[in-house]
Amino acid sequence: NKNAVCVVGSINMDITVSTSKMPKQGETVLGEKYRTYPGGKGANQAVAAARLGSDVTMIGAVGDDVFGKHLLTHLQQEGIQMQGVEVLGGVSTGIANIIMMNQDNRIIVAPGANQHVTPEMIEKKKHIIQNSDIVLLQQEIPMRTIQYVIELAYESGVKVVLNPAPFQPLSKSLLEKVTYITPNEIEAEAINITQQNVRIQRKTIITLGKSGVQFVNNNGEKKLVPAFLVPVKDTTGAGDTFNGAFVSQIAKGASLHHAISYANAAAALSVTKIGAQTGMPSEVEVEEFLNNQSQSD
Ligand code: RIB
Ligand code: NA
Repeated sequence: NKNAVCVVGSINMDITVSTSKMPKQGETVLGEKYRTYPGGKGANQAVAAARLGSDVTMIGAVGDDVFGKHLLTHLQQEGIQMQGVEVLGGVSTGIANIIMMNQDNRIIVAPGANQHVTPEMIEKKKHIIQNSDIVLLQQEIPMRTIQYVIELAYESGVKVVLNPAPFQPLSKSLLEKVTYITPNEIEAEAINITQQNVRIQRKTIITLGKSGVQFVNNNGEKKLVPAFLVPVKDTTGAGDTFNGAFVSQIAKGASLHHAISYANAAAALSVTKIGAQTGMPSEVEVEEFLNNQSQSD
């Protein structure tokens, strides 16, 4: 099945409070109204790809609580196939505690059920990965699971995109087995990308926020794909939108350069609304946006 994307990753409920003042150590501040939004880097990337026309199956876990039920229904409504997601008794669904102050987001994740996405769980579902064109991973599930998935995909000839967020150390042999890795600037530094071999550098796509996206082309030249500048409401999930959109394009056979600028457009649209998944665009919306951009050039 061309277009089949498997996302192995986290599912969270985001609990967001906006504030005009960041609390200092030992300090209490009064913020605004709290809101809940579906989140989790895995689920966010799955939604981004599904809205852009990919056939997405998710592998992950939620707890048997209210948030878990809500998120399962929500992701189903987004058209994501959820047969790879388990509901685990006696554990909590993952949550993210998000403090939002203008452009400064601070997030603490309590992984809950995401921590129980083990290699043993993946084993039972490995046909989903083997029947996909591409697997998309982030680092909010145990690293040994990520390693297992990368090796399985590699042996099965399935492409793998790894978004190394939040950062955790990665072995060179794992980096060799991924098709693309998509760190932000800080993660790229932690991977020590400039010290890696040419093969690894050529599969590295560095997202630089409003400065754009850097990649290495077939001739080994560093290229910068500029970001689209838009009025920003909330950058939570912008990286996830980029990754989901990027993978949706690669799955369709787009060139690297095209996949990156398309994903830039999707990410730009997503930051214009509050909530990680809220502004994630459909295919039609991305096309309209790109048309308007080229007209105003
Ligand atoms: O990348 C944004 C996401 O990170 C949020 O949705 C939150 O759940 C955390 O996982
Ligand atoms: Na958003």
